This record gives sequence, C-alpha cells and structure tokens, in this order.
Amino acid sequence: MPAQVISGKEVASEIRGELKKKVEELKSKGIHPGLGVILVGEDPASVSYVTSKAKGCEELGIYEETIRLSADVSEEEVLNLIEKMNNDSKFSGILVQLPLPDHIDEEKVVNAITPEKDVDGFHPVNQGLLLRGEKCPLPCTAHGAQQMLMRSGNDPAGKHVVICGRSNIVGKPLAAMLMQKKEAANATVTVVHTGTKDPAHFTKQADILVAAMGKPQAITADMVKEGAVVIDVGVNRIEDPSKKKGFRLVGDVDYDAISEKASYITPVPGGVGPMTVTMLLYNTVESAELIANK
Ligand code: GUN
Repeated sequence: MPAQVISGKEVASEIRGELKKKVEELKSKGIHPGLGVILVGEDPASVSYVTSKAKGCEELGIYEETIRLSADVSEEEVLNLIEKMNNDSKFSGILVQLPLPDHIDEEKVVNAITPEKDVDGFHPVNQGLLLRGEKCPLPCTAHGAQQMLMRSGNDPAGKHVVICGRSNIVGKPLAAMLMQKKEAANATVTVVHTGTKDPAHFTKQADILVAAMGKPQAITADMVKEGAVVIDVGVNRIEDPSKKKGFRLVGDVDYDAISEKASYITPVPGGVGPMTVTMLLYNTVESAELIANK
C-alpha cells in the first residue's frame, strides 16, 4: 500500500488556527506578540522567506516589522540595531535572516540577540537549555518535524529514530529534542553523517527516518525499512527543462520509490517547509507570554 502523505500545509494550517486564538486571548490580556526581522541585502531566497514570515504574522494578528539594510551595512550597525530591539517591548521575537554577507560575523550577530527573544532558537544559551531538556525556544524546522510526527499519530516514544545530517539548525537540535525523557520524544536516536561508514546499515533500522543532509534524493528505497515513517527535510533545486523556471524542487529522499515502501512520508514541496515559518510564529507568541509573565 502506498504511504500516507503527511501534509505540512495541513498541519501548519491546524497550528496557525490554534495560534490565532492564542494571539486573541493574549491581546485581551494586554499582551501583544511582535516579531522584528532584520534582512541584510536582497538575496531573492531570503527576501522570499522574510515575506512569508511577515505574511504569517499578519494572518495571525502578530505585530511585525522588517528592517531592510543594504548589503554593505557594517557589523557594528547590525549589532546596534539588535541591541535596540532587545530593549524594545514591541518585539517579543527577533530574527536576523541568514546568510549574512561575508564581512559580518554570523555568530556574533546570533549571540547578540537576547536569548528570551531568540525565536530561531539558535543562541548558544538556548542550545544548551535544549540539550539539558529545559524550556527554551525550539529551532523551528526541527520543531516542525516533531509536530508533523505527533499530529500524524506517529509518537516517537520508544521508536528508533535515525536522523541523517548533523546541522546546527536541524539534525543536532532534533536529536537533542527526541532523546529527552519527555512527551513527543523519548526515542532512541541515531545520527548518521558524512563520517558514518555504512549509512544504509543504520537507516534500514529506522522506525522513523529523518533526512536532513541537503543532498537531492540521496536516500533510496533500499535504505528504508518496510513500513518506516519518512520525514524529508531537504529542499533542493534540480534542473528540469520541462519546467518554466528550468528547475524543480526535490527532497533528500527518492520520494516515488520510497512512498511504495514507507507507511508515512512527507512531500517536497508542501512537507516540512511550511512548518518552519509556523513554528517561528509559535515561538514569537510563546516568548510574548513568557516575557509578560516574568
Ligand atoms: N535562513 C534560512 N533559514 C533560516 C532560518 O530558519 N532562520 C534564519 N534566521 N535564517 C534562515
């Protein structure tokens, strides 16, 4: 039987419906969530991400401000702006769209955001809290993947989750989240990476397989156990002359072949992608409530 498709659009829309109610409830108590976005330069992918974040905020009634800076802005100016936003109660969340131009130190910039407004969950303080299983803003894509599992009836508790990829924004935080002795977690987690000798040996053992390496269609059907749940985090452009734009988007897994073998699978596009902005909105609302109740 072909795999059931876990639609990121549907799960995202369900969560956004819940968030909209929560925003109304907070506003009735005088708590106004707000997101400040800093965009440096005009990279088309970054502009498109920032636009979807602004649109998401508008739909939910969250205050949003995008500050657009030219690509030659100094690091100091960016750091000064962050400092101002850290102290501005209009913003419960601050996000600097990455990547930044080479002359700006990304680590310095990420570290300048006060941890309580770090809605990306990238600050080292929040990474530490996450590893310890303490409350913190969860990195949005990893949190989105966890929500897709839970809301499709695939609780990772007691399961063997194999994560392919060890990035700081997906693989590592997802491993840290799913290994906690907590609800929606408590899994046995294996991380497969470029240093792994025989990746298929591990992926074939996965009850839940997460592909987050950024390599187009690298996970093939022979690497997947019959009945596994497959979460594809990859978004890759591959050439396709039959398309108007000359390319199409594919994930990190061979979708057609694997959907004949898996029990559940996430598509690309329309899978984990739409969840990332949704979980950013979630973090913005959460941080407004936490800051107000401090
Ligand atoms: N650039 C691509 N993805 C992201 C993200 O999740 N957060 C930020 N800040 N920049 C990004």
